[in-house]
Amino acid sequence: MRGLRLRNSVYLSLVAFFIVLVCFLLYHYPSSIERGVRKVVLLKHTSTNQELDNMLKRATMPDRTVILTMVDESLASPGSILDTLLQSFKSGEGTQGLVNHLVIITMDPQALKYCRSLHPYCIHPSIFPHHFATKGQSIMTTPDLKLFAWTRKDILLEVIRLGYNIIFTDADVLWLRSPFINLNPINELTISCNVLSDGQKGSYLYDGGIFFLKANAISFEFFKYWKLTKILFPNDPAEESLCTTIKERQDIADSYGFRVQLVNTSYFGGFCELNKDMFRDVYTIQANCCDDLKSKVHDLRIVLHDWIRFRKRASGGNALDKMALRWPQKCTRSNFTSNHIHY
Ligand SMILES: *[C@@H]1O[C@H](CO)[C@@H](O)[C@H](O)[C@H]1NC(C)=O
Ligand SMILES: *[C@@H]1O[C@H](CO)[C@@H](O)[C@H](O)[C@H]1NC(C)=O
Repeated sequence: MRGLRLRNSVYLSLVAFFIVLVCFLLYHYPSSIERGVRKVVLLKHTSTNQELDNMLKRATMPDRTVILTMVDESLASPGSILDTLLQSFKSGEGTQGLVNHLVIITMDPQALKYCRSLHPYCIHPSIFPHHFATKGQSIMTTPDLKLFAWTRKDILLEVIRLGYNIIFTDADVLWLRSPFINLNPINELTISCNVLSDGQKGSYLYDGGIFFLKANAISFEFFKYWKLTKILFPNDPAEESLCTTIKERQDIADSYGFRVQLVNTSYFGGFCELNKDMFRDVYTIQANCCDDLKSKVHDLRIVLHDWIRFRKRASGGNALDKMALRWPQKCTRSNFTSNHIHY
């Protein structure tokens, strides 16, 4: 009797072990299959992730490029950053049509609901195959940048795996001119990286809130590596910044054949670095160097307003140098703490 019970429990543990083993293999096997076939059918995906695939199919440009952004409820509610982003597409030069290729990732149900009231392409990360942790119902006053950065890696990886080139834009960016002229599809990544020095605390590399990522096997492998750095260097916040990664690990990027094109920082500009002739050169402006969302919305609205005035003057042949910048008003460098810098 006792022997039988013992045998039963050994048998049960074996079965349990076997089930765990099968699950483990199922979870890890697809990536090794993928490696084998990727060269033939580049990044073709056979999973059940139909919803994402359908949305990308509808939103894509003919050359398989989509524009992606991410918002949570602090960025997507009436009178929020998402409104200014969408408004900028309407007021920009050559940007009106581009909004039809914008896919908005919404991090919580409230943001999804608001997004759907404005825009046809809104998705929640839960539809991605490896579900991501997303925020619950808590009322947020600032976006959770760590969660954003982490989720963003997964999303970028998944979308290029499906074979779509990505123009990623932070939501606090204004699209004043179509940025395409700066995007050279020969390179895997096109980005602008600027340095912000913060007194004694040192200096930080930051991007202009927009970058282009080509969907190919090189990008895919490099981003897989980048995702791993989170596990390899869990306490290094630099690993969340794309600019820091490509600078500090340039040898690794090179070994993957990952080519980076740096765009002049006057083209993908922001509040961190202002100059009075900004409108002349700029394609996009990010409300970086600004901690507080209310201030961002306030100042971005003034920028948009001035941009519309600038375009009227320019088309009327009026002197442009008389136009002083009326911004930023609330987003001042002195009020800014760099731990909130956008990645
Ligand atoms: C960036 O663009 C600005 C404005 O066109 C120009 O003055 C500057 O020289 C450029 N910088 C570089 C490094 O090319
Ligand atoms: C800086 O922050 C303070 C307190 O939040 C605010 O009252 C002030 O208006 C800000 N500075 C500017 C120039 O907006």
